[in-house]
Amino acid sequence: MNETKTIRKAVFPVAGLGTRFLPATKAVPKEMLTVVDKPVIQYIVDEAREAGIEHFIFVTGRNKGVIEDYFDMAYELEATLKTRNKTAELEILDDQLPLAGSTTFTRQQAPLGLGHAIWCARDIIGDEPFAVLLPDMIMRSKKGCLSQMLEVFRDTGDNVVAVEECPPELAHQYGIVGVGKERGQAFEITEMVEKPPKGKAPSNFFISGRYVLQPEIFRFLSMQEKGAGGEIQLTDAMKKLMARQKFWAMKYVGETFDTGSKIGFLAANVAYGLSRPDLEAGFRAEIERLIGPK
Ligand code: UTP
Repeated sequence: MNETKTIRKAVFPVAGLGTRFLPATKAVPKEMLTVVDKPVIQYIVDEAREAGIEHFIFVTGRNKGVIEDYFDMAYELEATLKTRNKTAELEILDDQLPLAGSTTFTRQQAPLGLGHAIWCARDIIGDEPFAVLLPDMIMRSKKGCLSQMLEVFRDTGDNVVAVEECPPELAHQYGIVGVGKERGQAFEITEMVEKPPKGKAPSNFFISGRYVLQPEIFRFLSMQEKGAGGEIQLTDAMKKLMARQKFWAMKYVGETFDTGSKIGFLAANVAYGLSRPDLEAGFRAEIERLIGPK
């Protein structure tokens, strides 16, 4: 196994069709929908930046070009803001801009599944462990989810996935892991089951959108075997890699908003709106007015 104990690169698979957000996603990638005033993808990239990621790899598809523009400098806009002395707005843009040369965009060409999207980043990753962050899961926590995972990675040097607990009656909707011995914030994974039959899940821990993987995963992804839903699944490749390498389930401490679903997206807007000092009072009053007395 690779001995590197640093994770420098992260993959953001943004090539999905986002059908749950049609008609908006006909023209706007779901990752660019805003939670308050920032696109969802910005929250995910910020989590990666906090964890020390240096290279941001976006696996994109058709109609996703605006993501590339978003992470570029808006020269004309900045020049106009400068002439108008809009320093606060300029600072927002400056803070958001990644370092030149720290982003790479590659195309998946066809949405064949999450596993296939990750495989498309193989040459950009090369032979080092890397992170994957699903760009529709906003993880809100004091210490970022990926930072929490990197502690487990530095301790073990193995593969790490973030898990959360679900009510037992909902386990059949998720990718579930069976767990063995405990080590700090993590458990060794004994099995992975994608959407187990009702009542047959080995635990209530579901995989929640963050992965630290060894480069050997590409060997299994390159087999391009189709799994659930006729898609090339990341979970299937991880199951194969589990026969050779250890996987740890890190119990994520924090909140999660699945912005790929309408309820999760709306909840994220409410939660982040209420936590903004400049918006909180007015927003709370509006919500109370809308909800009204019972
Ligand atoms: P989802 O299935 O949640 O996203 O995939 P989706 O397909 O875009 O959304 P719906 O279900 O049609 O509304 C999880 C993540 O994997 C990416 C998606 O962009 C999303 O971030 N993905 C999925 C790819 O990049 N390529 C794929 O072929 C499939």
